[in-house]
Amino acid sequence: MTAEPLTAPGLAHLVDDRPADGVFRVDRSSLVSESVFADERRRIFDRCWLYVGHTSEVAKQGDFRARTVAGRPLVMWRGNDGQVRVFLNTCRHRGAQLCRVPEGNARGMSCFYHAWTYSNEGALTGLPDAGGYGEDFDRSRFGLQAPPQVAEYRGFVFCCFDPDAVSLPDYLGHATEYLDLVADQSPDMEVVDGVHEYSMDANWKLFVENSLDGYHLIPLHRTYFDYLKSTEDSYLDPRKATQAQDLGNGHAVITVEGPWARPVARWTPALGEENRDYVEGQRAQLEQRFGAERARRIATTDRNLLIFPNLIINDIMGVVVRTITPTAAGRTVIAQWTLATKGEPESVRAKRLDSFVTFQGPGGLATPDDMEACESCQLGLATAAESPWSDISRGIHKEADGGPFVASDEIQQRAFWRQWRDLLR
Ligand code: FES
Ligand code: FE
Repeated sequence: MTAEPLTAPGLAHLVDDRPADGVFRVDRSSLVSESVFADERRRIFDRCWLYVGHTSEVAKQGDFRARTVAGRPLVMWRGNDGQVRVFLNTCRHRGAQLCRVPEGNARGMSCFYHAWTYSNEGALTGLPDAGGYGEDFDRSRFGLQAPPQVAEYRGFVFCCFDPDAVSLPDYLGHATEYLDLVADQSPDMEVVDGVHEYSMDANWKLFVENSLDGYHLIPLHRTYFDYLKSTEDSYLDPRKATQAQDLGNGHAVITVEGPWARPVARWTPALGEENRDYVEGQRAQLEQRFGAERARRIATTDRNLLIFPNLIINDIMGVVVRTITPTAAGRTVIAQWTLATKGEPESVRAKRLDSFVTFQGPGGLATPDDMEACESCQLGLATAAESPWSDISRGIHKEADGGPFVASDEIQQRAFWRQWRDLLR
């Protein structure tokens, strides 16, 4: 795809990156300007690989999910041939949205406007009053279309609207190591039915920063940590044993040896005595499959992973898969699902979901704090003309030696912003 020209002279100057001087700061206009947002749409969201959904969400032939990605309506649909496809959700006749419900199961769909009908493999199978098109009308040219690139990695389905973009494995690069740690938790992982959708009056990049921010945990989420101390026998300080990493291509991760229970597979009393044997059995199985060291990483290390630009996986007391969708410079929609071990006992699933909504749910003990923080930043950013810079330099003095970095450093946010700058040159 030929890159469209940006607001001259590009936007790279909005990131002031001078490690030798200990400086990394971002011009706050990048967080409030609608023209910057328009450039981001063309240069980031039209060109990067973006998460669509998980194959387990369309487990059976005919299952479908409608999604909006980078402003495009899409349908992820499993065909009768078993293949998962992603289609542009637009009728080939005049453009009406073919799928008008969020999810379901269907062998085919009829457009509600003039009733052109498509199979779940994308073929145009029904053409009312077909004789009106003449004998030479070739239906095979009017099947549903796909985004220019669609690919899957370990059940995570992505699409890309740039036909010339690098392949998905090349795009994910070192981030696959962390996707593997999530996917390897059990031989079969599934997205639990149901989605949390919420929005905030703040720029999408503030939420990306927040998702990778180990510095805010104790001051912002005091309520949750007080609650944990009152419910867990063995409270560990989550500031200990942390790491932060730039994974390349804008991807980044922070890892923490957290104080909380993990259904795969770190038992604490919060998971209940009745689930102890199961959780410890899961750990033993992991050790069998992967050896002690990798099993320990999978089972006891929390990870917050950013796949640039808009997929966050928080693998903590539950695995949360989150998409960040900007709709304006100051408005962001977030959707989140939880990924779990398929076939786990009901009592474990119940505890998992309970811990997940307690911390990460939109009405939980942490997410509202994060929303409030992002929205408060956005309100403060109305002074961008007078107070133009946000500081993201924590830990920058370690860059010359390549780290190591801890989660309360900001190398992970700098990784994001450096990719942002490089795409908006
Ligand atoms: Fe779909 Fe006419 S727009 S059949
Ligand atoms: Fe937070």
